[in-house]
Amino acid sequence: MRVLSVVGARPNFAKLAPVHRALAARRIGHEIVHTGQHYDANLSDSFFAELEIPRPGANLEVGSGSHHEQTAKVVAAFGRHLERRPRPDWVLVYGDVNSTAAAALVAAKMGIRVAHVEAGLRSGDRTMPEELNRIVADHLADLLFATTPGAARNLRGEGIPPRRIRVVGNTMLDTLAWALPRARRRGTRARLGLPKGRPYLLLTLHRPSNVDDPATLRGIWKALGEIAAGRTILFPVHPRTFVRLRDGGLLEGAPAGLRCCDPLGYHDFVSLMHRAEAVLTDSGGIQDETAYMGVPCVTLRWNTERPETLRGGRNRLVGNDPRRIHDGLRAALRRGRRPLRGRFDDGRAAVRIVRALLDA
Ligand code: UD1
Repeated sequence: MRVLSVVGARPNFAKLAPVHRALAARRIGHEIVHTGQHYDANLSDSFFAELEIPRPGANLEVGSGSHHEQTAKVVAAFGRHLERRPRPDWVLVYGDVNSTAAAALVAAKMGIRVAHVEAGLRSGDRTMPEELNRIVADHLADLLFATTPGAARNLRGEGIPPRRIRVVGNTMLDTLAWALPRARRRGTRARLGLPKGRPYLLLTLHRPSNVDDPATLRGIWKALGEIAAGRTILFPVHPRTFVRLRDGGLLEGAPAGLRCCDPLGYHDFVSLMHRAEAVLTDSGGIQDETAYMGVPCVTLRWNTERPETLRGGRNRLVGNDPRRIHDGLRAALRRGRRPLRGRFDDGRAAVRIVRALLDA
């Protein structure tokens, strides 16, 4: 059997790593194609090194652009790539980024079997580019690896035949379980100058719905500034957010408690997440990771494709309303740490995926 994995952006890499290891353990040929959607060293190369993923066999170098341009570039470049190479038995696509939907489309049109890792997540919000990417990938896939029973239910509800669906768990949490012991030993906090014993919050923000509209971004920034008057917020800034903050003149007047830094590597980020008092984020994966570790999470979105994380108030949806950000954080801090471990969170999702590919 020959498997080809397509990845393009930061959250894909942690989902790929355990699948690569599980394929290697069974001596199954595995080619990795990087679309080049993320190209900065700290959004891409560092993840390959830290997660022990071999260098991709090809980089399609599609780079940044509008959604349609970026998607179209992946379609064209990945199509050319597949035409020149021996045909794989499976093309694996991961998560919900533009590269995911584009690669699934190409493989399906060429009659190559497609498997979608992290299938079935639905926010119900079709204004979100990721939601459209999920729908495309799921409806084109021959085998759908759902993270939870709820995700599998979503797929069945859309008419996808149950024989194509396997509930396997979340390979991103496989990676987290693998990385946690190393992450704890890294001394990240001291390196970033966060005093020992002093609580801090961790923040990530990059969604177009939060950062592209100047008035929305100003509102969020003001609320964060007020929070940072009383406690430290560490903020690794995604490149698109950096541009928006700079252009909006918001970087200059940032309060001292709001500490911006460059995007961090995987282990440093996990280490900071693990020790944070709470995490404020608009990411998808971080909601799962914080729930798994029991770190209170406040999500700056109005909906989530990960409803399991809301259980017991572990994760709170506050949108981008400043009042709700304050209230959500207060409630999260009162609640304290309570890990959420599902039946499939045993670090073996990728092993189940490889077994299913062999059986299919
Ligand atoms: C993408 C994913 C999103 C994921 C996020 C993680 C889609 C639709 N979105 O969003 O689901 O949560 O990755 O980071 O696929 N840029 C750089 N260097 C890079 C890459 C991007 O500076 O290496 C800048 C460019 O200005 C670019 C912007 O960031 O235009 C956005 O990059 P893009 O890949 O389009 O989307 P993300 O916001 O990163």
